[in-house]
Amino acid sequence: MQETIERTGRDFDAALKSANDSKSLDEIRIRFFGRKSGLIPSLVNQLKDVPKEQKKAVGDALNKLRDRLETALKEKSERVAAAEASRKEAADVIDFTLPAHRPQLGHLHPITLVRQEMEMIFREMGYSVDPGPEVETDWYNFEALNFTPDHPARDSQDTFFVDVDKLLLRTHTSNVQIRTMERLKPPVKVISCGRVYRRDEITMRRSPMFNQAEALLVDKGIHIGHLRATIEHFVRRLFGESARIRMRPSFFPFTEPSAEVDMSCIFCKGAGCGTCSQTGWMEILGCGMVHPQVLRNCGIDPEEWSGFAFGLGIDRVAMLKYDIPNIRTLFENDLRVLQQF
Ligand code: PHE
Repeated sequence: MQETIERTGRDFDAALKSANDSKSLDEIRIRFFGRKSGLIPSLVNQLKDVPKEQKKAVGDALNKLRDRLETALKEKSERVAAAEASRKEAADVIDFTLPAHRPQLGHLHPITLVRQEMEMIFREMGYSVDPGPEVETDWYNFEALNFTPDHPARDSQDTFFVDVDKLLLRTHTSNVQIRTMERLKPPVKVISCGRVYRRDEITMRRSPMFNQAEALLVDKGIHIGHLRATIEHFVRRLFGESARIRMRPSFFPFTEPSAEVDMSCIFCKGAGCGTCSQTGWMEILGCGMVHPQVLRNCGIDPEEWSGFAFGLGIDRVAMLKYDIPNIRTLFENDLRVLQQF
């Protein structure tokens, strides 16, 4: 028995020496002190079979062994636990040299990009920028622009009435023509970009809400040559020097004469393709010389002053520039689309 006690002590010392983490220390605890088959409890159990005269000596030796092993195991466990804690702490330290998570930066919508580009081209020519109101009175959107109450041209610009007969969502940016000429004495040069609304069916190229850009210039001796040159310059700045334009007679109540402007197709350069219906041309804007009655409506003498105006769809230009076939793509805010700009 004495010998077993000594051997148990030596085995323990060897095991403890090579145990350097809490897992192996736990194994030692179970092996030596486990309730069921631990070596120390089973030695204590064997004590009852020891001859009476040896009992005290063996019992003392066993007690001493148990006390020594318990203390040694406790000490080492504490040391290992402290070492493990400080290793964990070291691993948790924030490494300031690691690359940071970049915040996701937003960016401008394609329509805004095109609008800003258009505004910049006109700013360079000395135009001021005025978006004007989207909720407008009948006077500024229609009457002052020669759309009398029963004028058939109103049919093509049916809109959403906010307040019956009084307020409506503007159908074009031409309202800014009137507001500008009322507010400022000529000469005036203004560009207006913003949202307009029509009771339109939704198609690939039409939406009840879209964006227009409108230019107005009133000065002395302005004629259609100025109009054409301005549009040509604008279109070339926007689509490149090779872009050509042509004017076709048209009608708007507030311009006389009026014209529609086509641009050489940017896809086939005028040769004819699917996008331009094989014509080589794409319609891009409406324009004309400001009607004398419109000048008079704003208190400007048409004998002294003349001017031109033109308007175009910003969304259409964005669709052409970025090759977007469906106008709705611009309003759906699908990140897979928007992140490409
Ligand atoms: N306001 C017209 C439209 O929306 C376009 C236009 C503007 C025509 C200025 C002539 C002059 O169709």
